[in-house]
Amino acid sequence: MSSTLSNLKKCCIMAMVTFLIPCLSYSQKLVSVNTETNALVFTVNENNELNTLYFGDKLKNSSEYELIAKHYKQGTDYSEIYNSIYTPAGSKNLLEPAINITHTDGNTSLSLEYINAETNEVEPNVHLTKIVLQDKVYDLEVDLFFKAYYKEDVIETWTEIHNNEKGGIRLHKFASVNLYLYGDNDFWLTHYSGDWAQEMRPEETRLSHGIKVLDSKLGTRANLFQPSVFMVSIGKPATDNEGTVLMGGLEWSGNFRNEFEVDPLNNLRILSGINNYASDFELKKGEAFTTPKFWFSLSRTGKGDASRNIHNWARNYKVLDGKGTRLTLLNNWEATYFDFNEKKLKKLIEDADKLGVDLFLLDDGWFGNNYPRNADNAGLGDWEVNQKKLPNGIGTLVKTAEKNNVKFGIWIEPEMVNPDSDLYHEHPEWVIKQPMREEHYFRNQLVLDLSNPDVQDFIFNVVDGLFTENPNLAYIKWDCNSVIYNAHSDYLKDDEQSELYIKYVQGLYNVLERIREKYPKVPMMLCSGGGGRVDYGAMEYFTEFWPSDNTDPLERVFMQWEYSYFYPSSAIAAHVTDWGNQSIKFKTDVAMMGKMGFDIVVDELPKDELEFCQRAIKNYNELENVIWQGDLYKLKNPWKNELASLMYVGQDKKKAIVFNYLVNYRYEKGSHSPIKLKGLNPASIYEVEEINVFPGHEPIINKEHYSGDFLMKIGVNPKVSSGHPSVVLRLKEVSN
Ligand code: GLA
Repeated sequence: MSSTLSNLKKCCIMAMVTFLIPCLSYSQKLVSVNTETNALVFTVNENNELNTLYFGDKLKNSSEYELIAKHYKQGTDYSEIYNSIYTPAGSKNLLEPAINITHTDGNTSLSLEYINAETNEVEPNVHLTKIVLQDKVYDLEVDLFFKAYYKEDVIETWTEIHNNEKGGIRLHKFASVNLYLYGDNDFWLTHYSGDWAQEMRPEETRLSHGIKVLDSKLGTRANLFQPSVFMVSIGKPATDNEGTVLMGGLEWSGNFRNEFEVDPLNNLRILSGINNYASDFELKKGEAFTTPKFWFSLSRTGKGDASRNIHNWARNYKVLDGKGTRLTLLNNWEATYFDFNEKKLKKLIEDADKLGVDLFLLDDGWFGNNYPRNADNAGLGDWEVNQKKLPNGIGTLVKTAEKNNVKFGIWIEPEMVNPDSDLYHEHPEWVIKQPMREEHYFRNQLVLDLSNPDVQDFIFNVVDGLFTENPNLAYIKWDCNSVIYNAHSDYLKDDEQSELYIKYVQGLYNVLERIREKYPKVPMMLCSGGGGRVDYGAMEYFTEFWPSDNTDPLERVFMQWEYSYFYPSSAIAAHVTDWGNQSIKFKTDVAMMGKMGFDIVVDELPKDELEFCQRAIKNYNELENVIWQGDLYKLKNPWKNELASLMYVGQDKKKAIVFNYLVNYRYEKGSHSPIKLKGLNPASIYEVEEINVFPGHEPIINKEHYSGDFLMKIGVNPKVSSGHPSVVLRLKEVSN
C-alpha cells in the first residue's frame, strides 16, 4: 500500500462527514466517513481506484491521514487493490471479490474507477456519503453509500449497481460491504452457531490466512444454524471493558454470506451481503440493484461500549418504535398448546388480568376448519377461526380481554402452508416446490412463494382482515417455522428462478411495508421457530423478537447475554415458562432482563408464587424504562464466572437495576466478593435494595446507602449462592 500511496500527487477531493471539500492542498485524494470516535478513510491510488487507507480512532488533525501510509511497511500488493473499497472480479483482482458480473456482451471483467464522493446531512446526527464508481470500459456504475450515525458510532453501508449498458447484465455476486482492517494477522472472530432451542452459541476463533465463510442457504428461517451478526477483535480478544472490536451484521432476512479473508499482507478483508449461492440476478437495461444494508460499529474500549452504541442506534433509528413502550403479556402456547376452547381461553384472559400483565397473546391453533389446526400437521394457510374451538370467533375473546383490562394479541404464520389445508389445494401454484421432485417438509409445512404478488396480497389480507374484524387487536406474533426446500417458483420465469431467494425477501418486505403503512405502530413479535430470523432489516417492522423456544432460564442467561450485544433489551422477548427446574423467582428474574412475558398456567401457581409474580410485574413496570432505554453494563460474564451479573442504568443515572444469576451449581459457588457496578454518577448517593424478594424471605440488601463512587470502586456483593441463585438489586439516587 505504501508504494501506491507515495505515488499519489494529484489534486484532492476530501469528503468529510459534514461537508464536501472539492479540493484541498493535500497530495492524496481522500474520502472519509466520520462518526464521533472513528474515521473510515479511503484513498485514491494512481490508477484512480478507491482503496481503504484507515479505519479507527479519528485523528484530531484530518490533514494527517495522508501521513498514515508511509508508516506501513506492507508486502507487495500485486493487484494494488487488496484493500479495494469494493473489489471487482474478473480483471486484475487476486482475492475474494465483492462484485462479479457478466456484461451485456458476455464479458465477465469489471474494473471500477473512482468518480466522485459527496456527503450530505440527512437529518441532525446522520450523514450520508455517496461514492460513485464507474467501470473503465462499460456503462456500469456502482454507487457505495455510507450512512454515519455520528453520536452512536454506527455506520450503515450498502451498494447500488446501475446497469446503463445496452442490454441486461447478470449479477453473480453483489456484497453490501467490503471492509479492510489493518492488523498484522491478529484477528479474533466471534460468531454464533445454533439450531432449534440452541440459538446464539458463541465461538471465538483466531482467524488464519484464507477465507472463513459464515452463511445461510435456508431461505426463510435463515438464522437457524447461524445469524449474520459477528464480532472481530483486533490485536487480542476484546472483553466487555477493553480491546478493539468491530461488531456488524447484515440487514437481510434471507440467505447471507459473510467472508473473512486474511490476505497475503496479513490484513483482514470482511465481505458481507446476500448469499450469491443459487442467486444469479438479471439486471435489465436501465435498472439498478440495491443491496441490503450492512451495519457496523467499532470500539476501542471493549464490547460494552460497542453494544451500548448499537442499542442507542437501534432504539433511535432501527427497531420499530424503539423508544416506545412495550407490553408485558401472558401467552397460552405452553399453557395449552393446541388444546383449548373458548372457555379455557377466557379463563386464561382473566388470569392475565390477575397476574397484572398488559396483554393476552393467543398462540397457534385458533384456525382451520376443513383441516383443523389441532397439531402442527394441518391447517396452516386457512386463516379462518376454528368453529369448534371458538364458535363465537375471536371478537368475543377481544371483548373478554377488554372487560379484564388487558389487550389481546394473536399468533400467525402467514408465509407458510400445510399440505393438509384448503389453501394448498386451492393454490398449489403458490407453493415453493420443485415440479419434478417429491415434496420435502419442515415441521410438516411448505413455504408460500412471496415472489408472487398474489401471495403478497394474500398475506397482507390475512393481517388486514384480522385488524378489520378486530379493530382492537393490539399485538401480533409473526412466526416462520420452515426453511425453503426445493426452491422453485411457479410464478417466476425459467430464467428468473435463481432470483427466488432474493425476490422472496423483497416480497416479504413489501408486505411488511404495506402492513406498517396501515398499522404503523401495532407491536409485532418476530418469531421463527424460536430465533430463526432476526436482523435489523426485519426489525424495522417489528417491536421485538422471540430469541428461542428454549426458555430454560439458565440457558436464557447465556443466550440473552449474547443477543444483548447486538439488540436492545426492549426487543428481546423473554418469557417465564415451565422449561427448566429453577424456581419461579429465578425464571422471572431472568425474563425481567428482557421484554418480559409469561407462558404458564397462572391458576396452578401456589399463592406465594402468584404473589411473587404480581409483585415482580409491578417492579418491572416501575423499572421498565431503565431496562428498555437504559445503558447495559455487563459485570460478570457467565461463560467465565460462577455467576452472571449485568445492570441497566437509566439515561439520567437516577435509577439502575442489577441482575445476578448463579450459573454454576457446584459446592460453595456464588459471589464471594463485591461486584463493581458501572455507569453511575460517582457523586450521587444511591439507595440499594433487593427487589423481587420471594414472599416470606428477607432481602439480602435492604435500603443501604452508598455513593456511586463506592459502588463503582468497591462494589456490592449480591450474595448469590445456591440458596439465593438469583438476586435483583434496585438502585435509586437519593441525593447528588
Ligand atoms: C414456534 C414458536 C413457538 C410457538 C409455536 C406454535 O415454534 O417458536 O413460540 O408459537 O411455533 O406452533
